[in-house]
Amino acid sequence: MEHPTLDRLKSESNRTIASFLDRYPVGSADGLYDPVHYLMSIGGKRLRAVLALSAAEAEGFEASRAHPVALAVELFHNFTLMHDDIMDQAPKRRGNSTVHIKWDENAAILSGDAMYTMAQIALAETEAKNLHRALKVFNQTALEVCIGQQSDMAFEKRTDVTVEEYLEMIRLKTSVLVAASLAMGAISVGASEERVQLWYKAGEQLGLAFQMQDDLLDAFGGDAMGKQVGGDILSNKKTFLRLFTWQQASAELLEDLKKWDAIQDQPEAKVDFVKNAMMECGADLAARRSMKAYVEGAMSAIDSLQLSESHREWFGFLGGLVTQRTS
Ligand code: IPE
Ligand code: IPE
Ligand code: MG
Ligand code: MG
Ligand code: MG
Repeated sequence: MEHPTLDRLKSESNRTIASFLDRYPVGSADGLYDPVHYLMSIGGKRLRAVLALSAAEAEGFEASRAHPVALAVELFHNFTLMHDDIMDQAPKRRGNSTVHIKWDENAAILSGDAMYTMAQIALAETEAKNLHRALKVFNQTALEVCIGQQSDMAFEKRTDVTVEEYLEMIRLKTSVLVAASLAMGAISVGASEERVQLWYKAGEQLGLAFQMQDDLLDAFGGDAMGKQVGGDILSNKKTFLRLFTWQQASAELLEDLKKWDAIQDQPEAKVDFVKNAMMECGADLAARRSMKAYVEGAMSAIDSLQLSESHREWFGFLGGLVTQRTS
């Protein structure tokens, strides 16, 4: 079997997605599928699909057996982005207009719903003997992502969110899908329940690191990441960066931070001030440290799987990618 590479697995994911979407042509169904094609065509790392294929290969089988679950996790992920961008009032995604800006909110809601359904259709094509297990993980994950997103929104209005609450919120909104991608990849090729649990654990840790890097990029990533810079700061998101800063800030700085919380009409000054405060308090460094620990946690679960050297190395590479990515 060929050595895993990002080029190969990402191309395989993209080909699988393109041929699945051929079933839902642009312009048909009164344009229902147009935003789906748009969002899928403007980029995306395809991390979740790549993880599903990687787990199947690491278990010693052809990645093609994991195509249905790779499609399911990637379509589900993109559905969550379409709705998340409405909820976060985000103008940009992958360097382009978000669906609710390019079309309108109704289009983003309904095409998102269609995309969720497509994920279920794709998943149903999993080999019958593994389908029940895959479906159970998928549905549990989908519900947990909703819980995480609900907490994310609820936390915007609170000022007493703890780091523990934040970690549980990002575990739900982001990690469980990364975990499910690996677990369902392994399920697709009939892995034992014990191994599936280890895959899940590795993904959960990797997903925590992934969301911490996402939060870092939101504040410090610049235009290259393709989203509005400082969007989290503008909506008073309770990220690790913010919680750490509020914890470490002097009484004087804290007063200023509280004032900026209420200010909506000076976006650039707000983002500037809060970013400086974050750096002054060392929140970015603390986030990087914690992210590194999560990647180590992921690698220790991977080690328990006793993969061949080339697959172990591949997951080491993916761990590095998650923490060093710029988009
Ligand atoms: C963005 O996910 C949403 C999060 C869960 C942080 P990605 O950064 O994987 O988005 P794409 O698919 O590569 O654009
Ligand atoms: C994404 O969190 C989580 C889900 C979409 C479920 P974010 O709101 O941080 O994702 P981005 O930064 O908009 O991609
Ligand atoms: Mg969000
Ligand atoms: Mg968002
Ligand atoms: Mg984000």
